[in-house]
Amino acid sequence: MSKTFLVTGCAGFIGSNLVDYLLEKNYKIIGLDNLSTGNKFFLKNALKHKNFKFHKIDLLRNNIEKYFKNIDRVYHLAANADVRFGLNHRKKDINQNIIVTYKVLEAIKKNQVQKIIFSSTGSVYGESNQIPTKENTFFPIQTSLYGASKVSAEAIISAYSEAFNIKSYIFRFVSILGERYTHGHVFDFIKNLKKNNNMLKVLGDGNQKKSYLHIKDCIEAIEIAIKKFDKKVNILNLGTQEYLNVKGSIKIICKHLKLKPKILYSGGRRGWIGDSPFIYLDTKKIRSTGWRPKYNIKESVKITAKYLIDNQWLLKRKN
Ligand SMILES: NC(=O)c1ccc[n+]([C@@H]2O[C@H](COP(=O)([O-])OP(=O)(O)OC[C@H]3O[C@@H](n4cnc5c(N)ncnc54)[C@H](O)[C@@H]3O)[C@@H](O)[C@H]2O)c1
Repeated sequence: MSKTFLVTGCAGFIGSNLVDYLLEKNYKIIGLDNLSTGNKFFLKNALKHKNFKFHKIDLLRNNIEKYFKNIDRVYHLAANADVRFGLNHRKKDINQNIIVTYKVLEAIKKNQVQKIIFSSTGSVYGESNQIPTKENTFFPIQTSLYGASKVSAEAIISAYSEAFNIKSYIFRFVSILGERYTHGHVFDFIKNLKKNNNMLKVLGDGNQKKSYLHIKDCIEAIEIAIKKFDKKVNILNLGTQEYLNVKGSIKIICKHLKLKPKILYSGGRRGWIGDSPFIYLDTKKIRSTGWRPKYNIKESVKITAKYLIDNQWLLKRKN
C-alpha cells in the first residue's frame, strides 16, 4: 500500500511543487493550507489527482490533530516566509513559525507520526563569520525575527525528536527560485520594472551576495537526504556551490526583459534590517550523498524571470 504524507503549506511556492513531485511518485497526500500566501491555482493538477486531498484550514486557529491520523510523514512548510517585513508585524513570526510548529508537533506526537521534515533557512546563521557556513557553525546573534523564529522552531523540533519517537529532518535552504516563485528579490524587481521600466530602486548597495537553489534541485535533495540520513535529528544545508550579487541578478533580469533602466541604490551593505550581506552555505553534507544541483544560479534566475513574465497575474497579488 502506498504511504500517506501530510504537507502543511501545500498551496505555497515550495509546498505545491513538492505535492506534484510526491504525487508523481505515487504517494497519497493530505494537503493543509489557509491560502494566506498560497494559491489554489498552484494545486490545479494536484486537485484532479485521486491521491490528493486538500483541506483549507488555518494551522494556528483550527484544531488540526484529526488530519494527522495514519500519516507516515509530515512535511511542515507552512510559515510566514517573509523575512523583510518581520519587524513590522512581530507577532506573525512568533505565531506562524513557532506556535504553529508546536501545534504540528503535538498533532504528530498524539498520532504517533514518525517523521517530520522541516523547512528552515540559511537566515538562522544571521551574519556568520564562517563562509561557506557549515551546519555545525557557532550560532551568531540573530539579525531577523524570521531567522530567530526558525531557530526556535528547529530547537523545539529537535527536543520533541529526542523525547519521543519522531525522526526529524531540518533543511536550511538558501533562497529558492523557479516555477511558482512568489516572493523575493526577482519578484520585487520584475514587479517594479513592470510599473516603471525606466528606473529601478534597489535596497542596499547591490553588492549583497546570495546563494540560490532551483526548486526542483531543492525537492530532490530533500528526498535523497531522507533516504540517506537516519539520525534522530538530521540537519542539512541546501544550496549551490556558487553565489551571485544583487547587481548580477539585475543584469540577468534586465537582459531578459530587454530593458536598460537607471538603477538607484539606497546604499549600505544591507538592504533592510536583517538582510545578510553574504549568504553562502557549506553543502558538503548533502553532496556526500551524490546529490548535485542540475541548475546553476544564473539559469535559475532566468527561469524565474521567465515564469513571472508568463504569469504576470502573480505580480498583481497583494501578498
Ligand atoms: N522560498 C524560499 O526561498 C525559502 C527559503 C528558506 C526557507 N523557506 C521556507 O520554506 C517554507 C515554504 O516557503 P514558500 O517560499 O513556499 O512560502 P509560501 O508563502 O509560498 O508558502 C507558505 C504556505 O503556508 C501557508 N500558510 C501560512 N500560514 C498558514 C497557517 N497558519 N495555516 C495554514 N497554512 C498557512 C500559506 O498560505 C502558503 O501557502 C516556509 O517555511 C519558508 O520559511 C523558503
